[in-house]
Amino acid sequence: MQTSTRKKILELLTEAGGGFVSGELLAKKLNCSRAAVWKHMEELRKEGFELEAVRKKGYRIKSTEDKVTENEIQYGLEAKRLGKTVYYKETVDSTQKLAHRLVQEGCPGGTLVIAEEQTGGRGRLQRAWYSPKYTGIWMSVVLRPDLPPQWAPPFTLIAAVAVAQAIEETAGVHPEIKWPNDILIGGKKCTGILTELQADTDQIQAVIIGIGINVNETEFPDELKPIATSLLIESGRKIKRALLVQRILERLEKYEKIYIENGFAPLKLLWESYAAVIGKNITAHTLKGDISGKAIGITDEGVLQLEGEDGKIHSIYSADIEI
Ligand code: BTN
Repeated sequence: MQTSTRKKILELLTEAGGGFVSGELLAKKLNCSRAAVWKHMEELRKEGFELEAVRKKGYRIKSTEDKVTENEIQYGLEAKRLGKTVYYKETVDSTQKLAHRLVQEGCPGGTLVIAEEQTGGRGRLQRAWYSPKYTGIWMSVVLRPDLPPQWAPPFTLIAAVAVAQAIEETAGVHPEIKWPNDILIGGKKCTGILTELQADTDQIQAVIIGIGINVNETEFPDELKPIATSLLIESGRKIKRALLVQRILERLEKYEKIYIENGFAPLKLLWESYAAVIGKNITAHTLKGDISGKAIGITDEGVLQLEGEDGKIHSIYSADIEI
């Protein structure tokens, strides 16, 4: 059965917006018999699409529920490597934990682990990550670049650019990146990125990029209300999550290639165009203590440069930033 034919059927049914499309019209558009249309429909049903057939009316998409299943993500995905292998779960403790296990088992680079809900989602510094069912994007992407481990840190910045651009395109709002890994809209956090590494002394085995995006949440628990927001709250639109995932994977694939071939320098300007901290007075809470000063930029390696009150330049490799 031709994948392109099935894709065309899905396009025609999607354009009908949940309405019926007659078997006769589908047969005409696909240049095949009505019996062949019926066979294609059976195949699509086997793949998990909820399609309805009603005599004298035709076919329609039964469920318009917003899901992030393997099918939803792969149909229309223009990335070549990222998202080719998808592990989809209704419920999981943490996509990040599962991705770590899959790396150990030898999963290929580009593997996507995604869930409708996480019961033990975690953020940086072992903080809990709120991951309710069907509303957000909770995913981990496995990259296997042929690079030494010291090349790993900029992957967080690259992922942040990919996500910020995809949000801008899909939701029509302007996000800002708070170095290194938070994405904010109107000063509140809508996305967190957790980049982890499995490596030998001289070779990366896998970079695991965990991405959590508040997409269609309408409210948050009391403790998160002052600091968290969602794309729905900010844009007033409900977003189809699978489309946002596709746009992220496509950009991440492109930027990973640029980084491997040319380093972080060509991506720096793009990152800075979304930067919330550059030119502002901030405090960096580092493991060695607090450093206050003006954020003046990032280096070609993605290291934040802070000009202290004494005029001295501090290189910040890892910190929580307070604006
Ligand atoms: C942070 O801002 O602290 C990072 C949050 C990262 C959350 C994502 S959700 C998908 C993946 N699975 C997890 O358990 N965490 C990451």
